[in-house]
This record gives sequence, structure tokens and C-alpha cells, in this order.
Amino acid sequence: MPLTPSHTSPPAVLELIGRTPLVKVTRFDTGPCTLFLKLESQNPGGSIKDRIGVAMIDAAERDGRLLPGGTVVEATAGNTGLGLALVARAKGYRVVLVVPDKMATEKVLHLKAMGAEIHITRSDVGKGHPDYYQDRAAAIAATIAGSFFADQFNNPANPRAHETGTGPEIWEQMDRDVDAIVVGVGSSGTLTGLTRYFRGVQPELAFVLADPVGSILAEYTRSGVIGEAGSWAVEGIGEDFIPAIADLSGVRAAYSISDEDSFGTARELLKREGIAGGSSTGTLLAAALRYCREQTTPKRVVSFVCDTGTRYLSKVYNDNWMIDQGLLARKRFGDLRDLVARRPSEGNVISVNPDETLLTAFQRMRLADVSQLPVLDGDRLVGVIDESDLLLSVHKDARRFRSPVASAMTDAPSTIAPGASLTELEAVLGRGHVAIVADAQGFHGLITRFDLLNHLRRTLT
Ligand SMILES: Cc1ncc(COP(=O)(O)O)c(C=O)c1O
Repeated sequence: MPLTPSHTSPPAVLELIGRTPLVKVTRFDTGPCTLFLKLESQNPGGSIKDRIGVAMIDAAERDGRLLPGGTVVEATAGNTGLGLALVARAKGYRVVLVVPDKMATEKVLHLKAMGAEIHITRSDVGKGHPDYYQDRAAAIAATIAGSFFADQFNNPANPRAHETGTGPEIWEQMDRDVDAIVVGVGSSGTLTGLTRYFRGVQPELAFVLADPVGSILAEYTRSGVIGEAGSWAVEGIGEDFIPAIADLSGVRAAYSISDEDSFGTARELLKREGIAGGSSTGTLLAAALRYCREQTTPKRVVSFVCDTGTRYLSKVYNDNWMIDQGLLARKRFGDLRDLVARRPSEGNVISVNPDETLLTAFQRMRLADVSQLPVLDGDRLVGVIDESDLLLSVHKDARRFRSPVASAMTDAPSTIAPGASLTELEAVLGRGHVAIVADAQGFHGLITRFDLLNHLRRTLT
């Protein structure tokens, strides 16, 4: 059934946006303070950005910038896109989004599932570069007739959503007794809107900035100096410029939080409190905990679970990814075993046994997104099988998928000792082989060229 734009009857799900629950933190040391988290993850689109999705579209409809048949264009780290897609698609608009390439796959798949058209762009270029996501979005909007560039970084409907929604909700939920709010800044809509609201009802309230290391914002609030931006893995917050709508006047303290701390704290929040948030929630909670513990008098502090952790299962909550990124500490051997991504000793090696079928081997490779598997008989390495072994076996007769792995694997593959040098490892990889790390104690895992690249990347400072 074709969707027709409607300015009169918004879908009922939009009524679920906002009025999110507030929960007390009970399993962390909060010093003399009481810390509450507002669960923005409970919005129907899974993040705080649903609020501005509805606010920006309503405002554009009201002032005639968005007409039936129109297209909503936005530059977004994902969540704003989800909020906009939720509202705009339900109302029958086309949605075109420009997303930086560091964003979690789940977010991009979710956006596509909702019917948004996605343009992936570089996340390693700054404002003013044609591939910078906001510049790209503005350029795309200029080529589409009837387009509305939501432009959360400059759109007054963004902070207004927080001034009229998030702020009053916190005030009421806290029984009009709140001393500090810990926020992150992306577009700055949340901070600016809350600053405006609380200036009216509780001017003494302290805003505390939670900022990723690499972002320029924390330093700017302390010294007024705009430093050189670095890079960070946390999504949705931190900036390399000061957004035009930013009102930082209420910020009384700022904390720069490392990726390691952000990701680790998000994982702890799920373990201890059963609340699954994204990476930025880890940044906010880490800053909130520091702030709380530094206080000498009791304070009532609020922060946010900005988006749902289910959006980050392949990152924050994936040990392999965390180790790959150097964000999760792991036993170090000081030899080639440190380059192995999946260690048998950690129980996460993906392998196949010689009696299983080639089809099983193929499906396991696909699922784990690897190109080869060690063939293990119990703990004993008996061979290795890769894509070319499979292809060689089945290319003339697909029924060979039912043959055992033993019929196609490379048996007695050559191995490399954990103590071998990087040069020896490079020689093995250079011959197009995967390196099999083994010694008298047994099999220690595989090293691919990708693993070596990862290792070298981690040595970058
Ligand atoms: C994922 C995410 N997006 C956005 C925001 C808020 O950003 P904005 O400054 O755009 O309101 C936060 C806030 O902490 C966040 O965690």
C-alpha cells in the first residue's frame, strides 16, 4: 500500500517518543551523590534523537519547508537518521542520509530496513572537506527538488525539543531537586536545550561535559582554546568544531574520557545494572562517576543512556572487536601469540573437524567472516582448510559439499613457532599462506595478513 504524506494524522508510535524512565544507579560507587540515568534508549527508535526527529519534521511541516512528497536529507552518525526515518517514513517522505564510515553496521542496516537511502562517507576528514558528512549532505540536499535539509547542527528545533521535552521531564522526575546533569555533546542540542530550560527553573544547576579524548570540546570549555582534534571510537558525541547552536555557558566541569574507559564502562553498566547502552553512554557514565566521587557534599545528579546497546553488539559487546581495537586488555605473551585474533586457550577459536562436511566448513567461514579454518581433531591440529581448497573441491560438482573436510584440507601444514620473528611471519604470509602458530605444547591459533595489519596499526601512536 503506498504511503501518502499526512500532515493531520501522525502514526501512533510517535506518541511513544519522550517521557522516558529515570532509574537510580545502585551498583556503582557514586561517592556522596545519588546518580540517576534517563533511559533514552527506551524511545521507539532506540535513542535520544527520536525527540529531535519529531521536532525537526513537525517544525519544517509547520513553516512550509517540508511539503507532501518532499525528501528529508540529513548528515547523521546514525541515531538522528533513525529518529528522522522513523518519523519521516511513517509520514510518507523520502529519507536520504549521509553517514560517516566508522558507524556500527547495525545502525546502517537498521536505517536501510526503515527505508532510508544511505550514502556512506569518510570519517577521517573535517568540516569544509567535500566528503565531510555535513558538507556532503548539504550538497546532496541542493540537488534534490523539494528537499528539506534537517541540519541538526544548525536547526533551532533541535535544542527546542530538549528545552520543551527532556528538561521538564527531568525536573518533574527528580521532584524538582537536581544539582547536576552530565551530558555529551554531538550537535549540542541536548546541552543547549537543557541549559535554556534549567536557566529558568534552577539557574544554579551545574552541567558536566562528558567528552571523548580527541574531541576539542572539553578543552574549549576550560580554556576557550580550540585545540587540534584527534580521533575517537565512541559514536555520537565529541566534535572537531563548536556547533553554531551550542550554548556551553552552563558547563561547570568537563571530563575527557578515553575510548577504553567509555567502552569498558558501558560493558560494566550492562553487567552490574542490566542496562545496555551504546559507547557514548559509557563516556557519560564514566564522567558522571568521576564527578560524583569528587564531590564533598551530597548531590543529585542525572545523566543519560543515550541509545540502546543492541545497536553495538558487534562492537562494544564483542570481545573480539574490543581486543582488535586494543580496547580490552588481554594476556600478553611477548611473542607471535599476541597477534592471534582467536586463541584456542580463550575458547573462541573457530575450527572444523576432519569428519565434518565441506558445507559445514563453508557455512562456518561465512558466519565468522573468515577465509580459512584450522582443522582440529580434539585439541590436535590436523590440517587447515581455506577458500581455495573449498573451491578446488566443489567447482566441478557442488555435491562435493557433502564430502568430509579431510578430503579437501591441507594436511601437515607447515607451522611457525610462537618465538619466531615478525620477518619469518611476513615470509609465511608473503607466500600467500595463513601462519599456523604451534609448538610442542600444541596449536596456538592462526595469524592472517589482516591480523598482522591490525598488530601494526596498534603500534601507531
Ligand atoms: C549517541 C548520542 N548521540 C547524541 C547525543 C547528544 O548529542 P546532541 O549534542 O546532538 O544533542 C548523545 C549524548 O550524549 C549521544 O550519546
